[in-house]
Amino acid sequence: MSLMNKHEKLERNSLLLLVCVIVTVLVGGIVEIIPLFRMETVIEPVDGVRPYTPLELAGQNIYVREGCYNCHSQQIRPLRDEVVRYGHYSLAAESMYDHPFQWGSKRTGPDLARVGGKYSDEWHIAHLVEPRDLVPESIMPSYSFLLERGAKLHDLKSHLKALRTVGVPYTDEMIEFAEKDAIVQATGEARADTAGLEERYGEAVNARDFDGNPDLISEMDALIAYLQVLGTMVDFEAAKAVEGGEE
Ligand code: HEC
Repeated sequence: MSLMNKHEKLERNSLLLLVCVIVTVLVGGIVEIIPLFRMETVIEPVDGVRPYTPLELAGQNIYVREGCYNCHSQQIRPLRDEVVRYGHYSLAAESMYDHPFQWGSKRTGPDLARVGGKYSDEWHIAHLVEPRDLVPESIMPSYSFLLERGAKLHDLKSHLKALRTVGVPYTDEMIEFAEKDAIVQATGEARADTAGLEERYGEAVNARDFDGNPDLISEMDALIAYLQVLGTMVDFEAAKAVEGGEE
């Protein structure tokens, strides 16, 4: 009975009710939102996901600069048609080191979350130079100028450093060797010692002359290095085999 009386007081006094509603909503909001500020509580870590190499990062910077995200998403939704077309749906961990993330909101062209390894470097060069040579009905612009422009490598150190402040686990060594690692990755095993690069970023890292021009580390080298790693860090076949084995 006394509880009823108290509630009656609340219902009859609109100002008191308003204050109580605000307090209740605030508490609920804080409890829901605050944990999300801590990345490690929202994203389940997944084997294989690593920060981008400096060359891949230079490629991502070009991807952002050219606005590729205006026509391409990088997020495969867990819907049947998407999974059949693009492969395993995207995991949160796969874009945990993307700043800014490239999920996109529009698909004028196909999703690129798993385009890595789908085509050869030569295909990408030909396609970026003149998309209509390969897909006659394509409306994608030509990016042939990327072949002639040198990739900006001297400031990669600061990019890595900046990303570290927002939580990407670049080590002091990775930052120190940023420019060198980029050069080594775009030169490849045949002409450079890739041991340091592989030690820092894993043996699966693609190290080769992506654009086929050994005289210049071009923006094409960087962009293709980036495209070729997209969606390839997590080994879904191995994960499936483990799951199957346990059943
Ligand atoms: C005006 C929209 C538009 C922009 C901007 C654009 N693309 Fe595309 N892209 C398309 C369309 C449409 C297709 C499908 C036809 C084709 O393959 O050319 C495509 C296809 C692709 C493909 C092949 C994907 C596949 O799975 O077959 C890649 C790779 C690609 N684009 C990369 C890029 C990159 C990198 C950039 C930025 C440098 C970019 N695109 C900018 C529209 C665009």
